[in-house]
Amino acid sequence: MEGVLQALKMFLIIYLPPMAANGAPVVIHHYHKGSPIDSHKKWFDGKRILGDGKTWEGAIGGFVTGLITAIIIGTVSENPHPIIVTGALGSLGAILGDIVESFFKRRLGIERGEPLPIADQLDFYVGATIMIYLCGSCIKPGLPEYVTGLIIVPLLHYGTNYLAFKVGLKSVPW
Ligand code: CTP
Ligand code: MG
Repeated sequence: MEGVLQALKMFLIIYLPPMAANGAPVVIHHYHKGSPIDSHKKWFDGKRILGDGKTWEGAIGGFVTGLITAIIIGTVSENPHPIIVTGALGSLGAILGDIVESFFKRRLGIERGEPLPIADQLDFYVGATIMIYLCGSCIKPGLPEYVTGLIIVPLLHYGTNYLAFKVGLKSVPW
């Protein structure tokens, strides 16, 4: 039991900032329709590079939200520095992972907002994990944290998206 709680604690220290970074753009976009990162440009296949769902405001606001989350977690911990660095890089990875996923969705002919199961839920998680592994001074998730994430992230994703749909922040429940 203690091992499970320890894995959960480590999971939250590492992944709460990327989760905040991933969730914030939905709220930001609701109040301010931002500028698309792809400037409405199309790829060689005639389809949008990323689509209207990936905005500068969402990306930057998401990163800042993740960073603030990491600073708060770091401040209440004994060793803030690695936690803040990990949170910052994880948040950056989360935002980039989501952008890369949209790029591939458009190439597959999937419209903005249409679902691509599993990839939609894990895009930010995979992006955050890759970035954290690439960063030398980041706290690395071990197998227990990784397994915890694979269970918790899709559940949380469905839960928060359904909630966002219910309160009118999203037009679809995924
Ligand atoms: N969002 C944003 N900027 C980002 C990421 C997300 O403005 N960089 C906002 C958009 O309003 C987007 C919402 O957050 O619709 C939810 O993100 P996501 O589910 O990834 O976008 P989708 O609308 O499903 O678009 P896609 O098909 O490209 O994944
Ligand atoms: Mg996405």
